[in-house]
Amino acid sequence: MSVKQDIKGIHIARTLGAQDHAELWDSIHVSKDLKDSLLCQALLNFTLRPKVSRTVIPLHGVILLVGKPGSGKTSLARGLASKAAGLLPAKKLAYLEVEPHSLTSSAMGKTQRAVTELFGQTIAEYAQAGPTFVLLSVARDHACAFEVAA
Ligand SMILES: Nc1ncnc2c1ncn2[C@@H]1O[C@H](COP(=O)(O)OP(=O)(O)O)[C@@H](O)[C@H]1O
Ligand SMILES: [Mg+2]
Repeated sequence: MSVKQDIKGIHIARTLGAQDHAELWDSIHVSKDLKDSLLCQALLNFTLRPKVSRTVIPLHGVILLVGKPGSGKTSLARGLASKAAGLLPAKKLAYLEVEPHSLTSSAMGKTQRAVTELFGQTIAEYAQAGPTFVLLSVARDHACAFEVAA
């Protein structure tokens, strides 16, 4: 397991395998339909998305989980990463967790620069190297800050 903590905005960067967060996937009680559709969507993003032009099917590669704090979003997302890893040919993927607090700044334009660098550079480099799963947890008020910065 490799953990890097020196990348701005990222607090976990590691290689994730099928077993790493599998227990989280099993422990979260949601409908089987929801788990199935999350897994299908994640696999679609890893398999079909790189092969199809955005002009044909605009797959964005994003899965949005919305719910009250403590409703299991983070656990489910971590479990999903492991489940998806296990179904990929390499049985692993690069797993990143973004820490939004370290990106936001009251200084004019600084948040925007940090977000642009994170997505346009850091995450893009990981994605070029292989399947990459990014978990971004934002509270509602932070989501607004990101919208402004996007
Ligand atoms: N539907 C659920 N079934 C089982 N455990 C749950 C469920 N929702 C939340 N939990 C438990 O509550 C805790 C907080 O969940 P978390 O994934 O951090 O939620 P969120 O990211 O939505 O705030 C975890 O220990 C998780 O296992
Ligand atoms: Mg959470």
